Amino acid sequence: MNRLSGKKIAEDILSRIQGNIAQGDRAPVFAALLVGDDPASHIYVNLKERAALSVGIEFRKIILPETVFQDDLLAKIALLNADQAVSGILVQLPLPEHIDTQVIIDALDPSKDVDGFHPDNIQLFLEGKERLAPVFPRAIMELVTSAGIPLEGKRAVVIGNSDVFGQMMLTALSRVGVEGVFVRQDAAACRKAQILSADIVVTAVGIPNFVTGDMVKPGAIVIDGGIAKVGDKVVGDVDISSMQDKDVLVSPVPGGVGPVTIACLLENVFLAAQGK
Ligand code: GUN
Repeated sequence: MNRLSGKKIAEDILSRIQGNIAQGDRAPVFAALLVGDDPASHIYVNLKERAALSVGIEFRKIILPETVFQDDLLAKIALLNADQAVSGILVQLPLPEHIDTQVIIDALDPSKDVDGFHPDNIQLFLEGKERLAPVFPRAIMELVTSAGIPLEGKRAVVIGNSDVFGQMMLTALSRVGVEGVFVRQDAAACRKAQILSADIVVTAVGIPNFVTGDMVKPGAIVIDGGIAKVGDKVVGDVDISSMQDKDVLVSPVPGGVGPVTIACLLENVFLAAQGK
């Protein structure tokens, strides 16, 4: 097994952003809304903050209590949408159960939605006309192409929980000549056979050890977009120990998709600031 590291890809993207920001006359401003005190969400927002500051982006962290009313969160978003100084807005997910996540995402000004979660941004991505690309699919594609393997004619399996994610991944893969199928995590019966025939496996289900070495064919690229906690450790979907003796390229968790997703997010903050 060889590792497909996301760290180097992320560093390259971040140094490009830093160079571009240094040439401008104003630092882009990035606002992150964080609801409640879920420790993992605080860690993720802190990672984004650290990376933003390292490239010269001003970061505003807005923490709201777990009990915040949906209307109050919407009012905060309206203020940030209207604030000319703010280029990018992120609402850290998951939100508490009493809040309708889709209503919140829909309320973001699409030109400031640096995660690329807003339906307008998803639609533009599917049409190949994106300004702010959805960062997760974009980061996965960065890892796939970083393998340096000719992709034309290859076959992919994308495993996930969300049809929209599946659709975005299949569209992005088809643009580099890869034909793919999307398998929902619950479609267990067809899962193993399909994964075995794939040259590229993308998994994002958040279940530890979901993809094991006996499921992937020799020479495959395996991109692990899963994230879960086992005790104190952050792990992906791939059972790395069962891959060790196989001829496969695996993006690890941590150190794979995660850092590239943050770099793509900050690239969107820069692009959003440019758009004004
Ligand atoms: N929660 C887990 N991943 C993400 C992400 O990429 N963006 C946001 N906003 N919340 C998340």
